[in-house]
Amino acid sequence: MTENPASSGVPLESRRSFLGALLALGSVFVATLLSIPLVRFALFPLLRRTTELKSSPVGELSQFSSLTAPVMRTIQIEQVDGWRKAISEKAVYVTKDSQGQLRVLTSICSHLGCTVPWNKDKNQFVCPCHGATFAADGTRISGPSLRGMDSLETSVQDGQLLVRFQYFRQLVSDKEVIG
Ligand code: FES
Repeated sequence: MTENPASSGVPLESRRSFLGALLALGSVFVATLLSIPLVRFALFPLLRRTTELKSSPVGELSQFSSLTAPVMRTIQIEQVDGWRKAISEKAVYVTKDSQGQLRVLTSICSHLGCTVPWNKDKNQFVCPCHGATFAADGTRISGPSLRGMDSLETSVQDGQLLVRFQYFRQLVSDKEVIG
């Protein structure tokens, strides 16, 4: 026996608006569910954290004792990220701070990540992308970068200078490790 809507006691209009609201709620729920991977994908570069990196050899400590200007060295870094193990090469600079202590700087610009070369004629680092300049010890001189070049953690083992390579957040004034 089919029920006559009019005879159930609930007006037809109310049933329709209830079903409409239910449908709208369902659509919002599905849309939210589908947008989660997209949002995660979009935010991935900002939120990415990788696993610990091992220290990499930069060279014999004695090589850098009479340093008068920054020298570039290519280091190999091993990065284990979940299932993936990758070995890549990174350029770093060995330099000295104002007290004459060795410092190792990443060559990645703290503005937007270009590789910063040492300009021998100007006696400073000059970023080719937007013109940020830095002193030999990595201190910021001018340009759009909000901080100096990032120094890396160093150690010495058996006469070898070791460095722990890390990535830092760009476009911020404070040095913040992101991986
Ligand atoms: S990336 Fe170096 S100044 Fe913009």
